[in-house]
Amino acid sequence: MKDTLVEFTKAFDERLSETSRQKVRIVIKEQYKDAYDILEDCENASLIPGIIGPPGTGKTLLLRAYAERSGRDFSWITGDEGVRPSHLIGSFNPALVLNKGFTLESFDPGPLLKTMVFGGVFGLNEGNRLPEYVQNSLLEPFEERSVNVQRLGRITAHEDFFPVLTMNPEEMAGAHRLSEALRDRIRVWIRIGYPRKETELEIVKMNCEEYKLSDYLLENVYGLVNATRNSTDIEVPASIRAGISISRLASQMAKREKKKEVDYGILSKAATYVLTGALRFRPGIDPEPAVNSLVRRSLSE
Ligand SMILES: Nc1ncnc2c1ncn2[C@@H]1O[C@H](COP(=O)(O)OP(=O)(O)OP(=O)(O)O)[C@@H](O)[C@H]1O
Ligand SMILES: [Mg+2]
Repeated sequence: MKDTLVEFTKAFDERLSETSRQKVRIVIKEQYKDAYDILEDCENASLIPGIIGPPGTGKTLLLRAYAERSGRDFSWITGDEGVRPSHLIGSFNPALVLNKGFTLESFDPGPLLKTMVFGGVFGLNEGNRLPEYVQNSLLEPFEERSVNVQRLGRITAHEDFFPVLTMNPEEMAGAHRLSEALRDRIRVWIRIGYPRKETELEIVKMNCEEYKLSDYLLENVYGLVNATRNSTDIEVPASIRAGISISRLASQMAKREKKKEVDYGILSKAATYVLTGALRFRPGIDPEPAVNSLVRRSLSE
């Protein structure tokens, strides 16, 4: 077991530099190009945008690409009941406070504060799931571009600080509402949906570059994920992620079985493995037979 601090530090540093070398790979056309341009317009016009779209449609990736192309860092947090303002802004480390007092040295800055100080794109995922008082703590950073760090003072954000909210559409009306005050600060709403067939397949191919995907596989994977999106029995259908996962798993299974191409047997197995957890059916529908019959009906032999 490699568990010394030296080994961990070395491996950690390797991971850090590997991560900073990785380039964002994204298909930017149609809705993604439009959204990208509007993000830029919003930033230039000092307006805060919200991106609304179903899970796995590329909202986070788009923000990452936007940050990268403007040479900035991207950080984000996902809202839930447990997030506190200190998770966003930061907090004092009690052990250090004992020695050094309430100084900057004793302070662990949170992702929002770091992005406000250095500049960068800050993605707030599912901000509506934050408790209302936490949503309210974002009003000043978002509207006034300033924040008060207790005991340290109030700072104004770097001019390259750009906050963006992302949300799933069903959450707009759901139990977790965006507070009226925060909603009022989001000035522009950008919708992202499932892409056109050709574009989605281009995305799938981009995410499966080690495999050669046949037309049989691509057509059927699209047919299957699209069927889930048009089914009245399904509340949360297959995302782009699901299509990518089916394609990758099926290709890998064919490779292991030394088959030249993915065939019906492999594809239906791979699809079942992925879709078993990827869909949310309407209450009262038994997922297991529903997935099996969906796979049987949608794939051509
Ligand atoms: N335009 C695109 N180009 C390339 N890959 C894409 C594109 N859109 C989506 N993807 C793929 O789909 C995956 C899901 O995208 P992403 O995580 O950005 O979705 P999301 O909308 O933020 O989802 P969630 O609502 O669950 O947070 C990405 O990891 C990427 O592999
Ligand atoms: Mg996301």
